[in-house]
This record gives sequence, C-alpha cells and structure tokens, in this order.
Amino acid sequence: MSVEELKQIAKAMVAPGKGILAMDESHPTCGKRFKALGIPETEEMRQAYRDMLVTTEGLSDYISGAILFDETIHQTLLDGTPFPKYLSENGIIPGIKVDAGAHPLAGHDDEKVTEGLDGLRTRLNEYYDLGARFSKWRAVITIGDDIPSWACIEANAHALARYAKLSQEAGIVPIVEPEVLMDGTHSIERSYEVTELAQRITFQHLRNQGVLMEGMILKPSMVISGVSASSRADVETVARETVRCLMNTVPATVPGIAFLSGGQSDEEASSHLNAMHNLGIDLPWGLTFSYGRALQHASMTAWGGDSANVSAAQKVLLQRARSNGKAALGDYSADAEKAA
Ligand code: 13P
Repeated sequence: MSVEELKQIAKAMVAPGKGILAMDESHPTCGKRFKALGIPETEEMRQAYRDMLVTTEGLSDYISGAILFDETIHQTLLDGTPFPKYLSENGIIPGIKVDAGAHPLAGHDDEKVTEGLDGLRTRLNEYYDLGARFSKWRAVITIGDDIPSWACIEANAHALARYAKLSQEAGIVPIVEPEVLMDGTHSIERSYEVTELAQRITFQHLRNQGVLMEGMILKPSMVISGVSASSRADVETVARETVRCLMNTVPATVPGIAFLSGGQSDEEASSHLNAMHNLGIDLPWGLTFSYGRALQHASMTAWGGDSANVSAAQKVLLQRARSNGKAALGDYSADAEKAA
C-alpha cells in the first residue's frame, strides 16, 4: 500500500455530500441501546440489525464508509455474504474500530485512557486482509471541576498517535477521535478551551510519530455547551466556535474532518454541521459527519428487533443519511426534513 493509496482512501471518505456511518458499538453499548427498546441482546440480533442497516438501498449516495466492530467484520449478512465484501461491492468503504475501549486512568479519578496498542500491528494486518481500509480509535476527555488533567490529555494523544502510525503502516487510514464529552454543565467557552487543547496536543503527538497528515481523518466533537448547562449556545455559535477551533488546530493538508454526534439530537447534529458550511468561511478540509446515534437511533427504534419492520427502518436510516449528506453541503433544512 502506497502513500498515494492512503491519500485516495482518505479523500474518498470525505467526498462532497457524503459521510461515515459509525456502526461499531461494542457489545455493552449495543446491548444498552437494544435493551432500552426491548430488543434481545444476542449475536443474532446484532447481525440482523446491522444487515438491515447496510442493505438499505441508496445508502452509498450519502455514506462513503462504515465503521464496523470486530464481531461484524468477521460476520456475514443473513444471506451469507461477509459484511466487508458486501460493503465494498456496494460502494461503501469498510472500516474497523480497533481500540479496546476507554479504561480508568491510574491515579486520576473520573478520567480515562484508551487501551488497545498491545498486539495492534498484528490485528491491523488481519483487518486489512479482511477488507478494512480505514480504522478508528476513540479517546475520551471529560470536562469537570479540575479536569481534564494534563496526564489525561497527554496519555490519550500519545496513544492516538501510536495507533495512527501503526494504521498507516498497515495501509489503513486512521480516524483519530479525541472526543470531549458533552456531559456536564460547562459553558461553550470551557468546551472551546478543552477541545482546542485536546486537538492541539493530539496533532503535536501525531507529528512526533511521523503520521502522514494527508492520510488521516480527524473525528472531533463539536465545540458545544454541556448538555446540563443552564443556558446553551445557539446553532450559529456552535458552528462558528467549532470551525474557529479547527482552523486553529488542524493542518490544511488533513483531507477531512468527520464529526461524532456525541448525544446531540438528530436535528441538532445536522443543523450544526449545516451551519458550519454557511459561515462564509473557505474551509481547507472536507467537513462532514461520522455519526453513530444521529444516524441510527431513529432507525433502530423503527426496527425494534422485528424483521417485519426492516423496510420502514431502512427508510428512516436513508432519510437521516440524506439529511446529513445535505448538511455536509450546507443544504440541510430541518423543516424540509420534518415535511419529508
Ligand atoms: P456518536 O455519533 O453516537 O457519538 O458515535 C460516533 C462514534 O463513533 C463514537 O466513537
């Protein structure tokens, strides 16, 4: 795999009007979402659910890539086709979550560090052979009274950079995800401060490890008020502050930035992305979505674990994908989505 191929994949992941479907929930996370809807937490149900998602006709009009979980990349669709094969034959690049989750950071209450570097080179080579062409690693930064600590920012940035370089070595484009959680009562100003610091230190470590900027994608959280803040910044302010933060931290040679939704409502997630494209600012990188909940939640609810609801659930997923595809071009309207 050459540098040129890494660049081409990264560019295709953020093609205009397209974004990434994050469907890489770990068993506990997927189980929690299934349980809330009364869906049995079994391997068969996860297979049927993810089969429903990827077989949605027309999905590749708005979705460039799909992030899979380890179980799914080894699984087949209900008809026996391996997931990665089905995706690539249907115009969607298969990706894989490779981190082993966020674990308590020693000596730092309420803070986490993402693990999974041990044996990662071997796993990446296996995933490449299974068809994965990009990967994802998520770091979690919590905002609180005296946190994040320097230790948390540094440890996570270092791990992200080690992971990113190993991915590129394996011919896989890394999605580097330093997520600053929305949980809490913090202001948008505090969100800006922490998000900028996390991104800046992450890029320092990426450079230290020699990560190719043209062959990676950044998956950031937006600069946004805490969910429990007494007053929350409006759409225009979130868009402006998020873009200002990214302009201050992300090199122009990075081909693309794809946001996580992080617990925003479907409409918020689309409106924020849309507004970023209507600031009148010339953006140097592709700016799109890599949503999990904001793409899947409504569809999972419509499905409810019943095969009779597959086509209704696919309609909902396609609608969310289309809306976010429009938002990535600055053409989204919440009213038009409601009318549809
Ligand atoms: P959400 O969009 O639900 O935050 O998920 C995106 C993701 O991949 C988190 O790692």
